[in-house]
Amino acid sequence: MVNTVLVTGGAGYIGSHACVELLQSGYQVVVVDNLANSNCESLKRVQDITGKPLAFYQVDIRDRNALAEVFAKEPITSVIHFAGLKAVGESCEQPLMYYHNNVYGTLVLIQVMADADVKQLVFSSSATVYGASEHVQYTEDLPIGAINPYGRTKAMIEDILRDLSATDGLKPTESPWKIALLRYFNPIGAHESGKIGEDPNGIPNNLMPYVAQVAIGKLAQLSVFGNDYPTPDGTGIRDYIHVVDLVKGHIKAIQALQGEKFAAGGCKAYNLGTGRGCSVLEIIETFERATGRKVNYKFAPRRTGDLAECFANPELALKELNWKAEKSLDDMIADTWLWQVKNPQGYN
Ligand code: NAD
Ligand code: UFG
Repeated sequence: MVNTVLVTGGAGYIGSHACVELLQSGYQVVVVDNLANSNCESLKRVQDITGKPLAFYQVDIRDRNALAEVFAKEPITSVIHFAGLKAVGESCEQPLMYYHNNVYGTLVLIQVMADADVKQLVFSSSATVYGASEHVQYTEDLPIGAINPYGRTKAMIEDILRDLSATDGLKPTESPWKIALLRYFNPIGAHESGKIGEDPNGIPNNLMPYVAQVAIGKLAQLSVFGNDYPTPDGTGIRDYIHVVDLVKGHIKAIQALQGEKFAAGGCKAYNLGTGRGCSVLEIIETFERATGRKVNYKFAPRRTGDLAECFANPELALKELNWKAEKSLDDMIADTWLWQVKNPQGYN
C-alpha cells in the first residue's frame, strides 16, 4: 500500500523539512497550509530538492468543508499535524487567536479525520508543556504545566488527544486512534542544500535566526538575555536539535504507529531532543568558529518566562521509536549559515 501523509502546516519551517524527508522515504505527500506564517516557495524548493511532486492545498484547517474535500480527494493514510501559531509573546497578547487557531483547528482536524476513518496522527507538541519544572532534564512522565497561552494550547491539545484515544474500545467496530505526541526541544538548522530553512517574519524571537542575522549584518547586535543564571557561564541552557534529525523522528513515529506497538491503538508522548544542553555563549562561540564571522552581542536582563536550563531525556524515543539525533552543533550551525548566506531575504 502506498502511504499518503497529510502534512498540515507543511509550508512552514519544520513542515517543509518533513516533506523532503517523507518524499525521500517513498511517501506521497499532501500539504495543507493557509500560508499565515509561510511562503509556498518553500514547497517549490521541496520538490526541487527531491525531484518529486507533492499536492498542495491552500486551506485553513479550521475550514471543515475545505479540509473534508482534501480527505475526499486524496488517499490519506496518516496525518502529521504541524499547523499552528507558535510565538509565545504574541500568544500572551492575543490568547484567543491562539486557542482558536491551535485548539479549535485541531478539533476540526480530528473530526474530519474521524469522518474519513483516518486515525493515525503525529502531533507537534513542545517541551514548553513541562512548564516551570524543577527538573532540568525532562522525562515524558513529568507533570504538564505550561506557563503561557501558547504552551497551554499544546498541553490542551495533548489532553484532547489522550481523551480521544481513551474512547477506543467503547465501540469495538471502529478502528482505534494511533497518536504520537512529539515534544520538540529547540529545533535549529536547515536542509544541507541551503534551499529551505527558517524564515521568520520581522525580527526573530528565537536565538539561532537572531545570531545568523547579526552575523550577516542584517541586525546590529544580539542581546543575551541573562548572564546571572545558575549555569556554568551564567547564560541559559537549552537542547538544540537539528531540524532534519527532528523530522526523521516523525517518520519513525509514523512507522511505529503502523507497527506492533500501536496495533491496539494508543496515544503516547515522546521527547525529541539530543539530551545535551548548550548555553547561549557556547552557541555564539561555536557559530563564530564555524563561520569565521563575528557575532556582536551584549548582556541584557533575563527575558520574562525563560528557564535557566532544560534539556531532554531522549531515551524513550530511542527505545520505542528507534530514533536518536545524529547531527552535531557544528552541523546545525553550518547548515543555518548556508541557508542564511544563500537566502539573505529568506524566501522573498
Ligand atoms: P511555522 O510557523 O514555520 O509553521 C507552521 C505552519 O502552519 C505555517 O506554514 C503556517 O502558515 C501554518 N498554519 C498556521 N495556522 C494554520 C491554520 N489554521 N491552517 C493551516 N495552516 C496553518 O512553525 P514551525 O517552527 O515549523 O512549527 C511547526 C509546529 O511545531 C508548530 O505547531 C509549532 O508550535 C511546533 N513547535 C515548534 C517549535 C520551534 O521552535 N520551531 C518548537 C516546539 C514546537
Ligand atoms: N536568547 C537570547 N537572546 C535572544 C533570543 C534568545 O539570549 O535574542 C536565549 C534565551 O534566553 C534562551 C535561549 O536563547 O536562553 C533560547 O531561546 P529561544 O527563544 O531560541 O528558545 P526558547 O527555549 O525560549 O523557546 C523555544 C521555542 C518555544 C518552545 C520552547 C520549548 O521558541 O516555542 O523552545 O520547546 F516552546
